[in-house]
Amino acid sequence: MTTQEEQTRAGLQFPTGFAFGAATSAYQIEGAVAEDGRGISIWDTFTKTPGRVLNGDHADVAIDHYHRYREDAQIMAELGLTAYRFSVSWPRIQPDGSGKINQKGLDFYKRLTDELRQHGIDPWLTLYHWDLPQALEDRGGWPNRDTAYCFADYAATVHEALKDHVHTFSTVNEPWCTAFLGYASGEHAPGRREPENAIRGAHHLNLAHGLSVQAMGARRVGGCVNLYAITPATDSEADQDAARRIDGLQNRFFLDALMTGRYPQDVLDDLGMDLDFIRDGDLATIKAPIDVLLVNYYSRFTVSGAPGGRASAAAAPTDSASPWVGSEHVSFVDGGRPVTAMGWEIDRGGLVEVLTRVARDYPAIPMVVSENGAAFEDVLEHGRVHDSERVAYFEDHLRACRDAIDAGVPLEGYFAWSLMDNFEWAWGYGKRFGLVHVDFESQRRVLKDSAIWYSEIIRQNRRHEPTDS
Ligand code: FCB
Repeated sequence: MTTQEEQTRAGLQFPTGFAFGAATSAYQIEGAVAEDGRGISIWDTFTKTPGRVLNGDHADVAIDHYHRYREDAQIMAELGLTAYRFSVSWPRIQPDGSGKINQKGLDFYKRLTDELRQHGIDPWLTLYHWDLPQALEDRGGWPNRDTAYCFADYAATVHEALKDHVHTFSTVNEPWCTAFLGYASGEHAPGRREPENAIRGAHHLNLAHGLSVQAMGARRVGGCVNLYAITPATDSEADQDAARRIDGLQNRFFLDALMTGRYPQDVLDDLGMDLDFIRDGDLATIKAPIDVLLVNYYSRFTVSGAPGGRASAAAAPTDSASPWVGSEHVSFVDGGRPVTAMGWEIDRGGLVEVLTRVARDYPAIPMVVSENGAAFEDVLEHGRVHDSERVAYFEDHLRACRDAIDAGVPLEGYFAWSLMDNFEWAWGYGKRFGLVHVDFESQRRVLKDSAIWYSEIIRQNRRHEPTDS
């Protein structure tokens, strides 16, 4: 072994059983939107509305995973992944969002999970990654409390059908995005700009989480949050207040509810609105015990209470309002770090910070990093993609995971976002996050250098694990 390999190994050796995964979501990869009885989702509607998605892109075909799942599972096996996080398309299971079940939808996920298990890959199933059945949006969407009850029924159905196939169920992917990008800024489906309804939606997403955890009974289940490290631009009172506000809406509104059964009082005060939609008993439901917390981490925000910065750090390329309900005056400033093709600042230290913070501030809970990754301008040349920036990104962030474990964080796995290039929401096919390059015309898959690097890290780790028998 060369010295460099030894150094890599020294920093990137993980405890036995650590999950090495990659993640995707249904709408971003499946395509086949009109097949086998699938209903319409809010993303089908949104992508067909002019001006909502860059270049008018949609995911009718996406990367055709619905038909190519076997090939894709084979790629995961080649990479040596031990876990795969994917989401179920609610309108495939319940075309109208409630009532009638579409058996063909459930059958697809049975075939997929069987395939994964044959390769020794643990299926991590996300119940909701943003593709709400349009029929439920037509009845008010997430601001309507009934949607949470429909979600619990849907969760119970999926759980019953797939509980013997799935390693871990998780409820709602990044409720912050669904609530605030979907109902306040309007940059995600359903594209509404109704700040008060965004807060209602956020509460009902939390409620949906709790109700579905209860509905699934004895099982391994987790909740998923997207956490940011947040720094005030200066130590002025206004900037510190801005940091408290953004941390409150982005992180604590969800973490406190799920982990402690309370909403942070300072955040409720910032909102300054009537909160009568939060009913007695809701928070006890939301606090339903979970087995694991899924943490998505991408970046750090540097925020200011003074005007002059940008309205949002991660704004879409399309026209949008502020997602920061009640704190619209906060501005986002350049933290002086290198950025990805999304303009997101790269900060491995932020990952250590959010993981150690959760371990410190909340009741003990095992965690995984359920998404982490970066878009760059990849070039496919002679059948290769030399994405050295992405290799560096993954290496830095895996090292951050190792540091967090050394600091006592019960971290049990890491999922790279994403397994393959795919439909990146408001950015359409304009941003590539994959370990695997996809030619969107031919659907040809090619391992990028980052995939080869990741598979080597996984192999080196597994070599030191005791073999089962
Ligand atoms: C996360 C989403 C995921 C993907 C990445 C880049 O917020 O959960 O679907 O878009 O960002």
